Amino acid sequence: MFMKMNFTKVGILALLVGILTPTVVMALAHSDLFTCDGCHTPHNADTLPGVPLWNGLDTTVTFTMYSSKSFQGAIDGQPSGDSKLCLGCHDGANPDYSWMNPDFLFEANELVNSHPISFIYDSALATLDGALKDPSEASSIGATILEDLLDRESKVQCSSCHDVHTSGVGDNLLRGYDYGLQYGSELCRMCHIK
Ligand code: HEC
Ligand code: HEC
Ligand code: HEC
Ligand code: HEC
Repeated sequence: MFMKMNFTKVGILALLVGILTPTVVMALAHSDLFTCDGCHTPHNADTLPGVPLWNGLDTTVTFTMYSSKSFQGAIDGQPSGDSKLCLGCHDGANPDYSWMNPDFLFEANELVNSHPISFIYDSALATLDGALKDPSEASSIGATILEDLLDRESKVQCSSCHDVHTSGVGDNLLRGYDYGLQYGSELCRMCHIK
């Protein structure tokens, strides 16, 4: 039976994730787990704003996007930019990643109760909200909010809070600096004045 297993790259990865202690696996950035070609390709790349040399991995799910009475952003009809890429594996519909911890999956209705993504965060929105920094202000991790946290279309995406490269911090690959054992309100205060 063991001989008949199909040892695809993903199969081996699933096996490793099963064998290694969670701590070891969680210490790995996605750029180690999947190597660069999990998301980028050096040639014949597809175009996706905010993802240089995109390998074309895309979600197949139709999502219900975030809405609330107080949310003032104009959200895209479906996830855009790098959020599309993340959801290509994290949407619960990609059979290669069905072994993933269910807590890590965002199925069709689960963006509704997650921080909004895929909308433009500009000065107008900051003014309208009243408790957001202007995106030209310092992000507290080097440059401005616009440069460090928003994609090329000035949108909030999964990558506004996460950095999947080795520069990502802690188990949750957060963007920024070392938050210690748990991320604190510093992450949120890069953009919010609360
Ligand atoms: C899980 C998906 C994923 C993997 C794996 C990945 N990247 Fe990325 N990469 C992204 C996304 C999303 C962005 C855009 C947002 C950002 O900059 O984090 C990006 C941006 C970049 C950029 C341009 C922005 C910058 O930081 O200069 C470079 C260069 C890059 N990646 C190189 C790499 C290399 C080299 C590897 C392998 C060691 C790699 N990436 C692995 C998703 C990935
Ligand atoms: C090629 C598939 C793939 C892509 C693309 C991908 N992920 Fe993942 N991600 C996984 C798998 C598999 C796991 C579970 C394994 C693990 O624990 O790291 C995971 C786990 C995670 C975790 C939890 C880490 C932990 O252990 O607590 C975070 C956070 C995460 N991904 C964020 C992202 C973000 C943000 C993006 C887009 C920039 C992204 N992922 C793109 C496959 C992917
Ligand atoms: C506003 C910031 C923010 C945005 C935007 C964001 N995340 Fe997260 N994410 C976090 C934080 C903080 C955690 C740490 C654990 C927690 O509080 O749930 C986390 C945890 C996770 C985890 C680990 C599972 C868990 O619940 O602990 C995954 C997987 C993940 N995020 C993927 C994504 C994907 C995919 C997107 C885009 C669709 C995204 N995140 C957008 C801040 C964010
Ligand atoms: C990259 C910047 C950025 C980061 C980092 C960020 N947010 Fe936000 N957040 C926004 C923007 C922009 C909005 C939209 C504001 C609006 O229209 O009401 C928003 C909206 C919200 C809302 C209100 C949604 C509504 O329905 O009115 C809450 C609550 C929130 N964020 C909490 C958090 C928390 C908690 C964190 C940290 C885990 C966080 N944010 C990190 C930019 C950010």
